[in-house]
Amino acid sequence: MTKVNIGLIGYGTVGSGVVQFLHKREKYFRDKFNLEFVLRTLCDWNIHKKDIRGLGNTNLTKRFMDVLDDKNIEVVIELIGGMHPAEEIVTTALKKGKHVITANKELIANEGKRLFQLAKAQNCQLCFESSVGAGIPIIKMITEGLAGNTYGEFYGIINGTCNFILTEMTKNHLSFSKALQLAQEKGFAESNPTLDINGMDSAHKLAILAYLTFGKFVKLSDIYTEGITHISHDDIEYAESLNLAIKLLGIAKRGEETIEARVHPTLISKDHPLASISGIYNAIYLHAKPLGDVLLSGEGAGQMAAASGVISDLVNLASRGKDSNLLCNLYSEAPHLKVRKIDQIKTKFYIRFMAVDKPGVLSKIAGILGRHGIGINSVNQRAHNPTSAVPVVMLTNYTTEKMMRLALQKIQKLSIVKSKPVAIRMEKLW
Ligand code: HSE
Repeated sequence: MTKVNIGLIGYGTVGSGVVQFLHKREKYFRDKFNLEFVLRTLCDWNIHKKDIRGLGNTNLTKRFMDVLDDKNIEVVIELIGGMHPAEEIVTTALKKGKHVITANKELIANEGKRLFQLAKAQNCQLCFESSVGAGIPIIKMITEGLAGNTYGEFYGIINGTCNFILTEMTKNHLSFSKALQLAQEKGFAESNPTLDINGMDSAHKLAILAYLTFGKFVKLSDIYTEGITHISHDDIEYAESLNLAIKLLGIAKRGEETIEARVHPTLISKDHPLASISGIYNAIYLHAKPLGDVLLSGEGAGQMAAASGVISDLVNLASRGKDSNLLCNLYSEAPHLKVRKIDQIKTKFYIRFMAVDKPGVLSKIAGILGRHGIGINSVNQRAHNPTSAVPVVMLTNYTTEKMMRLALQKIQKLSIVKSKPVAIRMEKLW
């Protein structure tokens, strides 16, 4: 029987899920893997206010140094999230020769390169399966299951909270705030849910996936990031009527000299498999060479989903040890690639205006688009009301972001346009 001493830092939603998981599967781990996991110390700055029962001989502490200074602890599980003091905890644990398991996407996205180098130098493992897609084995799929393949592009639904909100707004007609409140109650959202709805959580995950697929650490400031707070029921209904679905996608594409990395609400055909990924599910759609297309999907947020990813890291680490260290291999196949600025990227657009219902209005708007080289593929005005503004929806041909931005600024200044135009990028997935 191999005994593994663990120190767990952070007893929130995911931390308590990990403790329950370890407890419930104790016999299973012994019988199946010949492993005994001993939770030696549990650390949380609020530990004495938490309901902790049935932990036997586990030490309880508020001080993370009690975990890091304990020579008997071989594996530190960091589940406090955020940059600080998580960065200090993970750095110190590695410097002290301990393996680290973390679900902290913000930390890996910002400091992954340095931490992987440190882990490699220390001959330690730094495992982070739960950082993207919670328990869905996206990291292991790319680093192990697809080892040997290279990638041209991928599209990911990588924030469960946003996918849940968009699904509830579409299927149950819930308001944005009610859907967000439900996501928080169910433990899907971050402790600061702004990171979910403003797209930053997806950007953190996209940075990690870009590293794993393209071998390139993309700076967060180079990832164009837009959240879902401006998406309305009107847009969702128009999308449905056009056989389209609105998804918050993380998109990365690799060219000869450049890569694109962006997060934004995206209109995709309802016939594409990603359009049917609903609720809390996450999915990643990858074009792998030579394999072909791969779609991996499952519950991407929530207590036991995230705990499952942490436990899989723990079982792998304990059964395989530090010999297989694919994740800390910092070989970069594409160090020369430059990240394209959003202004240069071309997509088709859905645009919606609230405009007065008078003859000549559409030609004014179309004229501005035309002068910016933007072709219109379709126009839809369902309501008619000569006394108030009505929604007008246009689908455009391919144009650069820059041209669209300039055109919308001009359109917004027209007296016939009564509110800020909404623009949603469209993506034709292969
Ligand atoms: N808040 C995250 C989400 C949790 O909603 O996807 C999983 O990383």
